[in-house]
Amino acid sequence: MIWKSIFGLSALGLLPLASALPNDIAARATSSSSSSAASSSSVSAPPTRSHPSSLAHSSYKGTALTTGALTASSVGTGIPSGSVSPAETTYPSDGKLHNAEPAPYVPAGGVGTNGSIPVYNAKSDFDYESLALALYQEWIELDLFQDGLRRFSEQDFKAAGLTSQDRNLIAFMAEQEVGHATLISNILGAEAPQQCAYVYPYTNVQEYIDFAQKLTRFGEAGVYGFLAHLDSREAATLLTQSITTEARQQLIFRQFQGLFPMPEWFEVGIPQSWAWTLLAPYISWCPQGQTRLVWQNFPALKILNQPSVGSSGNSSAFQNNTISSGTNVVKVPNGSKASGSGSSGSDCGATVTTDDTTPLSFAGRQVALQWETPGKAVGPNNSYVTTSQAKTAKYVAWVSQLNVTYTPLRVSSNGTRGYTIQPDTEVYEGNPAVNGTMFIAITDSNPVVTPFNLSLINPHVVAGPAIYQAG
Ligand SMILES: *[C@@H]1O[C@H](CO)[C@@H](O)[C@H](O)[C@H]1NC(C)=O
Ligand SMILES: *[C@@H]1O[C@H](CO)[C@@H](O)[C@H](O)[C@H]1NC(C)=O
Ligand SMILES: *[C@@H]1O[C@H](CO)[C@@H](O)[C@H](O)[C@H]1NC(C)=O
Ligand SMILES: *[C@@H]1O[C@H](CO)[C@@H](O)[C@H](O)[C@H]1NC(C)=O
Ligand SMILES: *[C@@H]1O[C@H](CO)[C@@H](O)[C@H](O)[C@H]1NC(C)=O
Ligand SMILES: *[C@@H]1O[C@H](CO)[C@@H](O)[C@H](O)[C@H]1NC(C)=O
Ligand SMILES: *[C@@H]1O[C@H](CO)[C@@H](O)[C@H](O)[C@H]1NC(C)=O
Ligand SMILES: *[C@@H]1O[C@H](CO)[C@@H](O)[C@H](O)[C@H]1NC(C)=O
Ligand SMILES: *[C@@H]1O[C@H](CO)[C@@H](O)[C@H](O)[C@H]1NC(C)=O
Repeated sequence: MIWKSIFGLSALGLLPLASALPNDIAARATSSSSSSAASSSSVSAPPTRSHPSSLAHSSYKGTALTTGALTASSVGTGIPSGSVSPAETTYPSDGKLHNAEPAPYVPAGGVGTNGSIPVYNAKSDFDYESLALALYQEWIELDLFQDGLRRFSEQDFKAAGLTSQDRNLIAFMAEQEVGHATLISNILGAEAPQQCAYVYPYTNVQEYIDFAQKLTRFGEAGVYGFLAHLDSREAATLLTQSITTEARQQLIFRQFQGLFPMPEWFEVGIPQSWAWTLLAPYISWCPQGQTRLVWQNFPALKILNQPSVGSSGNSSAFQNNTISSGTNVVKVPNGSKASGSGSSGSDCGATVTTDDTTPLSFAGRQVALQWETPGKAVGPNNSYVTTSQAKTAKYVAWVSQLNVTYTPLRVSSNGTRGYTIQPDTEVYEGNPAVNGTMFIAITDSNPVVTPFNLSLINPHVVAGPAIYQAG
C-alpha cells in the first residue's frame, strides 16, 4: 500500500493544487518508455493509491464479527427543530456594496478568502464520514467499470449497439476513478477505507449499462447532498472537481442507453444514509481493519413496475421487471435489442440525443412497490443491519431536482406491498419535477424538507430509497 499519501496530506496544504491531481497517465508514460522521454513534468506528480486488481465477484457467505454502523461513545436522541437566525436575513441584497473592500476588486465576505492558508483535510466527524462514504463509492466505480469490460466481450457490446470506442471510454472512466480514490485517500489519511470485493446483479451489457447509469447517479447525488455542509471548504472544493466528472459519466451512461441525456433542469442531492443504503448491498466484503461508516442502512425498496422502454402501452401494469431492490435495474432478456430503460423510439443502443421526448413515465402513473422490514444483514461481510426509526408507512417521498413531494401510499393487506400515484409537480413552470433518474422512499409522515435540510427526512424513512427511472 502506498502511504506516501500521509506525506501527501500535509503536503497538500503547502503545495499548489496540482499536487492533488492524478498522475496515472504520466506514470504510464514513464513505465512504457524507459528512455529520457519520461517527461520532466511527471517527476513531481504524486503516486496514485494502489488497490487490488481483481477480486472475485461473489456474495459473502460468512458471519460478521462486528455488526451495525460505527457509533460514538454518546448518541443523542435526535436533531431538534431550529429556527432562522436573525443574522441570516440582514444583508440588503440590493446590488450595492455595504462593506469596505479588503483589496481592489475584492468584495467583503466569503469563507476562506482572507489569506488564511487552505488545509485540505477533514475537520470534523461529519467531514470524515462523508468523505469516507464518497471513497467507498469511488472504489466500487473503479471495480464496476472494469468488471463490465472483463465480463462482456466486444461482440456483446456490439450486440447492445455499443462500439469498441465506447468500451475504451468506460476504461478511461475507471482511470478517472483511480484519481478520485487517490484524492480522497490523501485527504483522509492512513485509515482511509480500502477497496473491497463486490457482487453485481447484471447478466448482460444492457443491464450493466443501466446499473452503471443508476450507480453513478446515486454516487453523484450522495455527494451533492453533503458538499455544502462540509466543515472543510477545502475538501469540498476538491470533491466538487471530482463529482462533476462523475456527473459526466452518468450522462454518458444515459446516452449509451439511448435515453434523452438530461431531461432535468437541476441535479438532485440525497442524504449520505440514502447513498449508503443503495451502495452497501453491492459490497461483498472488505479487508480486515477496514474503516467502518456511521451511516444508516434503511430497509430495501423495490419498484415492481420500473419505467422502461420495454413497458410500452400501459406501463402502470404490474411487471416485476427489476433485477435488484434499491437501484431497481431493469431486467433485459439476453439477446434483446431493447436497452434497460432507453427512451421510446431509440431502443438500439447509444444516441447523443433524441428528439423523441416521450417520457418513460407520466403523472398519474400507478407505481407498485414492495419493501423489506428492518433487521436484515447487508453490506461488507454482512456486517451492517438495516434499521428504521419511522412508524407506519403512509407516504411516498419523491426526491427529484430541487423538490420533495409526497404522495399517499396505499398499503396492501400484506403490509410490505402497496402502490402510489406519480405526482404532477413542477420545479418552475414548464419543468416537471419528477424526471430523469430520481429517488423515492416510503415515509411515515410528510415533513417539509428542502435541498439544504433534506437529511431531516431520515427519521421518517420506513424503506428506501429506490431509484425511479422517471425519464
Ligand atoms: C481569516 O479567517 C479565519 C476564519 O474566520 C480566522 O481564523 C483567521 O484568523 C482570519 N485571518 C487570517 C489572516 O488568517
Ligand atoms: C446472459 O448471457 C451471459 C453471457 O453473456 C450469461 O452469463 C448470463 O447467465 C445470461 N443471462 C441469462 C438470464 O440467461
Ligand atoms: C471480511 O471477510 C473476508 C473474507 O472472508 C476477510 O478476509 C476479512 O478479514 C473480513 N473483513 C472484516 C472487516 O472482518
Ligand atoms: C393502467 O393500469 C392501471 C392498473 O394496472 C389502471 O388503474 C390505469 O387506469 C391504467 N391507465 C391507463 C392510462 O390505461
Ligand atoms: C419476481 O421476479 C423474481 C425474479 O425475477 C422471482 O423470483 C419472483 O418470484 C417474482 N415475483 C412475483 C410476485 O412474480
Ligand atoms: C421529462 O422532460 C422531458 C424533456 O423536457 C419531457 O419531454 C418529459 O415529458 C418529462 N417527463 C415527465 C415524466 O414529465
Ligand atoms: C409480503 O409479501 C412479500 C412478497 O411476496 C413477502 O416477501 C413478505 O414476507 C410478505 N410479508 C408479510 C408480512 O407477510
Ligand atoms: C420546488 O422547488 C422550487 C425551488 O426551490 C420551489 O420554488 C417550489 O416551490 C417547489 N415546488 C414544490 C411543489 O414544492
Ligand atoms: C427545512 O427547511 C425549510 C425551509 O427551506 C423549512 O420550511 C422546513 O421546516 C425545514 N424542515 C425541517 C424538518 O426542519
